[in-house]
Amino acid sequence: MSQNLWDNVDAYFTDVLVPSDPTLEAALKDSKAAGLPPINVAPNQGKLLQLLAQLHGAKRILEIGTLGGYSTIWLARALPKDGKLITLELDPNHAEVAKRNVARANLSKVVDIRIGKAVETLSLLEKENVAPFDFIFIDADKPSNPEYLAWSLKLSRPGTVIIADNVVRNGEVTNPKTTDPNVIGVRRFMEMLAAEPRLSATAIQTVGSKGYDGFALAIVKR
Ligand SMILES: C[S@@+](CC[C@H](N)C(=O)[O-])C[C@H]1O[C@@H](n2cnc3c(N)ncnc32)[C@H](O)[C@@H]1O
Repeated sequence: MSQNLWDNVDAYFTDVLVPSDPTLEAALKDSKAAGLPPINVAPNQGKLLQLLAQLHGAKRILEIGTLGGYSTIWLARALPKDGKLITLELDPNHAEVAKRNVARANLSKVVDIRIGKAVETLSLLEKENVAPFDFIFIDADKPSNPEYLAWSLKLSRPGTVIIADNVVRNGEVTNPKTTDPNVIGVRRFMEMLAAEPRLSATAIQTVGSKGYDGFALAIVKR
Protein backbone atom coordinates (compact mmCIF):
# COMPACT_ATOMS: atom_id res chain seq x y z
CA MET A 1 0.00 0.00 0.00
CA SER A 2 1.53 3.29 -1.05
CA GLN A 3 0.79 6.86 -1.95
CA ASN A 4 1.25 5.88 -5.61
CA LEU A 5 -1.51 3.29 -5.39
CA TRP A 6 -3.82 5.71 -3.52
CA ASP A 7 -3.17 8.34 -6.22
CA ASN A 8 -4.05 5.83 -8.95
CA VAL A 9 -7.29 4.78 -7.29
CA ASP A 10 -8.31 8.41 -6.67
CA ALA A 11 -7.51 9.22 -10.32
CA TYR A 12 -9.63 6.23 -11.40
CA PHE A 13 -12.63 7.24 -9.23
CA THR A 14 -12.30 10.84 -10.36
CA ASP A 15 -12.10 9.84 -14.04
CA VAL A 16 -15.14 7.59 -13.75
CA LEU A 17 -17.39 9.52 -11.35
CA VAL A 18 -16.31 13.16 -11.22
CA PRO A 19 -16.64 14.61 -14.71
CA SER A 20 -14.00 17.12 -15.68
CA ASP A 21 -15.25 20.63 -14.91
CA PRO A 22 -13.46 23.60 -16.50
CA THR A 23 -14.58 26.01 -13.75
CA LEU A 24 -13.26 23.85 -10.92
CA GLU A 25 -10.07 23.10 -12.84
CA ALA A 26 -9.54 26.81 -13.50
CA ALA A 27 -10.06 27.49 -9.78
CA LEU A 28 -7.21 25.11 -8.93
CA LYS A 29 -5.01 26.43 -11.74
CA ASP A 30 -5.46 30.05 -10.67
CA SER A 31 -4.98 29.18 -7.00
CA LYS A 32 -1.68 27.54 -7.87
CA ALA A 33 -0.63 30.48 -10.08
CA ALA A 34 -1.37 32.85 -7.19
CA GLY A 35 0.90 30.81 -4.91
CA LEU A 36 -1.81 29.29 -2.72
CA PRO A 37 -0.80 26.00 -1.09
CA PRO A 38 -2.40 22.86 -2.61
CA ILE A 39 -4.35 22.02 0.54
CA ASN A 40 -7.81 22.04 -1.05
CA VAL A 41 -9.95 18.92 -0.86
CA ALA A 42 -9.48 16.38 -3.69
CA PRO A 43 -12.11 16.35 -6.49
CA ASN A 44 -13.77 13.16 -5.21
CA GLN A 45 -13.84 14.65 -1.70
CA GLY A 46 -15.36 17.87 -3.04
CA LYS A 47 -18.04 15.79 -4.70
CA LEU A 48 -18.61 13.88 -1.45
CA LEU A 49 -19.19 17.19 0.35
CA GLN A 50 -21.58 18.26 -2.40
CA LEU A 51 -23.50 14.98 -2.23
CA LEU A 52 -23.74 15.18 1.56
CA ALA A 53 -25.07 18.75 1.40
CA GLN A 54 -27.58 17.67 -1.26
CA LEU A 55 -28.62 14.57 0.70
CA HIS A 56 -29.28 16.84 3.64
CA GLY A 57 -31.20 19.38 1.53
CA ALA A 58 -28.96 22.14 2.89
CA LYS A 59 -30.07 25.71 2.13
CA ARG A 60 -27.57 27.51 4.34
CA ILE A 61 -23.94 26.42 4.47
CA LEU A 62 -21.09 27.76 6.61
CA GLU A 63 -17.53 26.99 5.59
CA ILE A 64 -14.58 27.79 7.87
CA GLY A 65 -11.44 27.91 5.68
CA THR A 66 -11.94 29.11 2.09
CA LEU A 67 -8.46 28.99 0.52
CA GLY A 68 -9.11 29.56 -3.24
CA GLY A 69 -12.77 28.63 -3.02
CA TYR A 70 -12.47 25.11 -4.43
CA SER A 71 -14.56 23.33 -1.78
CA THR A 72 -16.70 26.47 -1.66
CA ILE A 73 -17.74 25.95 -5.29
CA TRP A 74 -18.48 22.26 -4.74
CA LEU A 75 -20.66 23.08 -1.75
CA ALA A 76 -22.36 26.15 -3.23
CA ARG A 77 -23.42 24.06 -6.22
CA ALA A 78 -25.35 21.81 -3.82
CA LEU A 79 -27.59 24.72 -2.85
CA PRO A 80 -31.02 25.54 -4.23
CA LYS A 81 -31.51 28.88 -6.04
CA ASP A 82 -32.35 30.70 -2.81
CA GLY A 83 -29.50 29.07 -0.88
CA LYS A 84 -26.61 30.85 0.84
CA LEU A 85 -23.03 29.92 1.67
CA ILE A 86 -20.89 31.99 4.01
CA THR A 87 -17.18 31.14 3.93
CA LEU A 88 -14.53 32.47 6.33
CA GLU A 89 -10.92 33.15 5.36
CA LEU A 90 -8.05 34.77 7.25
CA ASP A 91 -5.75 35.56 4.34
CA PRO A 92 -6.95 38.45 2.11
CA ASN A 93 -4.89 37.10 -0.80
CA HIS A 94 -6.61 33.70 -0.54
CA ALA A 95 -9.97 35.45 -0.28
CA GLU A 96 -9.25 37.53 -3.39
CA VAL A 97 -8.41 34.42 -5.42
CA ALA A 98 -11.53 32.72 -4.06
CA LYS A 99 -13.65 35.73 -5.01
CA ARG A 100 -12.51 35.48 -8.64
CA ASN A 101 -12.99 31.70 -8.71
CA VAL A 102 -16.47 31.99 -7.23
CA ALA A 103 -17.36 34.73 -9.75
CA ARG A 104 -16.23 32.52 -12.65
CA ALA A 105 -18.51 29.80 -11.27
CA ASN A 106 -21.42 32.30 -11.36
CA LEU A 107 -21.86 31.91 -7.62
CA SER A 108 -21.11 35.44 -6.40
CA LYS A 109 -24.74 35.99 -5.42
CA VAL A 110 -24.82 32.79 -3.38
CA VAL A 111 -21.37 32.93 -1.76
CA ASP A 112 -20.40 35.50 0.86
CA ILE A 113 -16.65 35.51 1.66
CA ARG A 114 -15.79 37.05 5.03
CA ILE A 115 -12.17 38.01 5.64
CA GLY A 116 -10.57 37.84 9.09
CA LYS A 117 -9.75 35.43 11.88
CA ALA A 118 -12.61 32.97 11.88
CA VAL A 119 -13.14 33.28 15.64
CA GLU A 120 -13.81 36.98 15.02
CA THR A 121 -15.96 36.61 11.90
CA LEU A 122 -17.95 33.87 13.67
CA SER A 123 -18.58 36.23 16.53
CA LEU A 124 -19.73 38.89 14.03
CA LEU A 125 -22.12 36.38 12.46
CA GLU A 126 -23.66 35.78 15.87
CA LYS A 127 -24.02 39.55 16.39
CA GLU A 128 -25.71 39.80 12.99
CA ASN A 129 -28.21 37.25 14.27
CA VAL A 130 -27.81 35.11 11.17
CA ALA A 131 -30.27 32.26 10.66
CA PRO A 132 -28.85 28.89 11.73
CA PHE A 133 -26.81 26.94 9.21
CA ASP A 134 -27.92 23.53 7.92
CA PHE A 135 -24.44 22.34 7.05
CA ILE A 136 -21.05 23.41 8.40
CA PHE A 137 -17.65 22.47 6.94
CA ILE A 138 -14.67 23.08 9.25
CA ASP A 139 -11.39 23.22 7.30
CA ALA A 140 -9.18 26.04 8.59
CA ASP A 141 -6.38 26.12 11.23
CA LYS A 142 -6.66 22.86 13.17
CA PRO A 143 -5.56 24.25 16.58
CA SER A 144 -8.78 26.28 16.58
CA ASN A 145 -11.03 23.29 15.84
CA PRO A 146 -12.42 23.22 19.41
CA GLU A 147 -13.46 26.89 19.13
CA TYR A 148 -14.92 26.22 15.67
CA LEU A 149 -16.99 23.38 17.06
CA ALA A 150 -18.29 25.59 19.88
CA TRP A 151 -19.21 28.28 17.33
CA SER A 152 -20.77 25.71 15.04
CA LEU A 153 -23.08 24.66 17.85
CA LYS A 154 -24.06 28.28 18.49
CA LEU A 155 -24.83 28.82 14.81
CA SER A 156 -26.68 25.55 14.29
CA ARG A 157 -30.14 24.07 14.79
CA PRO A 158 -31.29 20.54 15.58
CA GLY A 159 -30.44 18.57 12.43
CA THR A 160 -27.40 20.64 11.39
CA VAL A 161 -24.59 18.55 9.91
CA ILE A 162 -21.02 19.41 10.93
CA ILE A 163 -18.03 18.03 9.02
CA ALA A 164 -14.39 18.58 9.95
CA ASP A 165 -11.56 17.67 7.59
CA ASN A 166 -8.07 16.32 8.35
CA VAL A 167 -8.78 14.61 11.65
CA VAL A 168 -6.39 11.67 11.19
CA ARG A 169 -3.13 13.39 10.32
CA ASN A 170 -1.21 10.26 9.30
CA GLY A 171 -2.52 8.50 12.39
CA GLU A 172 -0.99 11.03 14.80
CA VAL A 173 -4.49 11.64 16.18
CA THR A 174 -3.99 8.54 18.36
CA ASN A 175 -0.84 9.96 20.00
CA PRO A 176 -1.73 11.43 23.40
CA LYS A 177 1.86 12.70 23.82
CA THR A 178 1.90 14.71 20.61
CA THR A 179 3.29 18.23 20.74
CA ASP A 180 1.90 19.13 17.30
CA PRO A 181 -0.65 21.93 17.85
CA ASN A 182 -2.68 20.69 14.86
CA VAL A 183 -2.99 17.22 16.36
CA ILE A 184 -3.70 18.66 19.81
CA GLY A 185 -6.48 20.75 18.25
CA VAL A 186 -7.96 17.72 16.52
CA ARG A 187 -7.77 15.58 19.69
CA ARG A 188 -9.51 18.28 21.74
CA PHE A 189 -12.11 18.56 18.99
CA MET A 190 -12.71 14.77 19.18
CA GLU A 191 -13.05 14.94 22.96
CA MET A 192 -15.60 17.74 22.60
CA LEU A 193 -17.54 15.72 20.02
CA ALA A 194 -17.61 12.79 22.44
CA ALA A 195 -18.62 14.86 25.46
CA GLU A 196 -21.24 17.05 23.80
CA PRO A 197 -24.69 15.63 24.51
CA ARG A 198 -26.23 17.69 21.68
CA LEU A 199 -24.12 15.88 19.06
CA SER A 200 -24.02 12.43 17.55
CA ALA A 201 -20.71 11.92 15.73
CA THR A 202 -18.35 9.53 14.02
CA ALA A 203 -15.03 9.77 12.19
CA ILE A 204 -13.67 7.97 9.15
CA GLN A 205 -10.04 7.49 8.09
CA THR A 206 -9.28 7.83 4.40
CA VAL A 207 -6.41 7.36 1.98
CA GLY A 208 -6.12 9.04 -1.38
CA SER A 209 -4.36 11.72 -3.36
CA LYS A 210 -4.27 13.83 -0.18
CA GLY A 211 -2.46 11.09 1.75
CA TYR A 212 -3.63 9.32 4.90
CA ASP A 213 -6.20 11.42 6.70
CA GLY A 214 -9.91 11.46 7.42
CA PHE A 215 -12.94 13.44 8.42
CA ALA A 216 -15.37 13.69 11.31
CA LEU A 217 -19.11 13.91 10.76
CA ALA A 218 -21.61 15.03 13.37
CA ILE A 219 -25.26 15.93 13.53
CA VAL A 220 -26.93 18.20 16.06
CA LYS A 221 -29.55 15.96 17.67
CA ARG A 222 -33.21 16.74 17.11
C1 LIG B 1 -7.12 23.71 4.25
S1 LIG B 1 -7.32 25.34 3.67
C2 LIG B 1 -9.01 25.34 3.14
C3 LIG B 1 -9.21 24.50 1.94
C4 LIG B 1 -10.58 24.66 1.29
N1 LIG B 1 -11.63 24.34 2.26
C5 LIG B 1 -10.70 23.72 0.10
O1 LIG B 1 -10.79 22.51 0.33
O2 LIG B 1 -10.67 24.21 -1.04
C6 LIG B 1 -7.39 26.27 5.13
C7 LIG B 1 -7.65 27.75 4.94
O3 LIG B 1 -7.95 28.29 6.23
C8 LIG B 1 -7.36 29.56 6.32
N2 LIG B 1 -7.17 29.90 7.73
C9 LIG B 1 -6.12 29.60 8.54
N3 LIG B 1 -6.30 30.11 9.76
C10 LIG B 1 -7.50 30.75 9.74
C11 LIG B 1 -8.22 31.50 10.69
N4 LIG B 1 -7.76 31.68 11.93
N5 LIG B 1 -9.39 32.02 10.32
C12 LIG B 1 -9.87 31.83 9.05
N6 LIG B 1 -9.23 31.15 8.11
C13 LIG B 1 -8.04 30.62 8.44
C14 LIG B 1 -6.06 29.43 5.55
O4 LIG B 1 -5.58 30.71 5.16
C15 LIG B 1 -6.46 28.53 4.41
O5 LIG B 1 -6.83 29.30 3.28
